[in-house]
Amino acid sequence: MSNSIAALFQRLTQGVYVVGVAHGETRNAFTAAWVMQISFDPLLLALSINPRHSSYGLLKQSGAFSVNVLKKSQTELAAHFGRPAHAEKLAATEWTPGRADTPLLRDALAWFECEVVGEHLAGDHILVLGKVIDGRLLDSDAEPMAYRETGAMDGASVLFPERFGDA
Ligand SMILES: Cc1cc2nc3c(=O)[nH]c(=O)nc-3n(C[C@H](O)[C@H](O)[C@H](O)COP(=O)(O)O)c2cc1C
Repeated sequence: MSNSIAALFQRLTQGVYVVGVAHGETRNAFTAAWVMQISFDPLLLALSINPRHSSYGLLKQSGAFSVNVLKKSQTELAAHFGRPAHAEKLAATEWTPGRADTPLLRDALAWFECEVVGEHLAGDHILVLGKVIDGRLLDSDAEPMAYRETGAMDGASVLFPERFGDA
């Protein structure tokens, strides 16, 4: 693993987030590492999402998503929301609906709420551009979780090729 492409990519510094989506009475959330700011004016975030996730359908229908920043200590939450959708996924966590109705986790370090303003196919994922319409820093003393701290939680190592040029 130490010389693998998976290990190399783990050195890209990324945070860990719970992305919330909602459409009508249906809500869901999933763990994501591929989130970043991409503009000041307007304030834009980019999210890379696998279109096979059930959350993608809800995001597409509603045109909105939330980004909940996880704290270093919240590895259980990262693992919980990293599992595929089931009816109870949000039931174990306290949350409130935001302006665009997306779930905002009460125990997050911070949250952002975004309106979708664009989408681009990016290989096996979709790059979703979101205009930030609201946000709050809930715990200014907490350290944000880094993706590397999640270890093998997402099972991503098997998705990397053995050598460059293989994929
Ligand atoms: C640490 C971690 C990071 C992840 N990052 C992403 C990501 O950036 N984009 C993505 O589409 N899925 C990512 N996933 C995978 C989803 O969280 C996972 O497939 C989830 O089951 C999708 O939920 P859903 O089917 O309820 O929508 C990540 C999982 C983990 C554990």
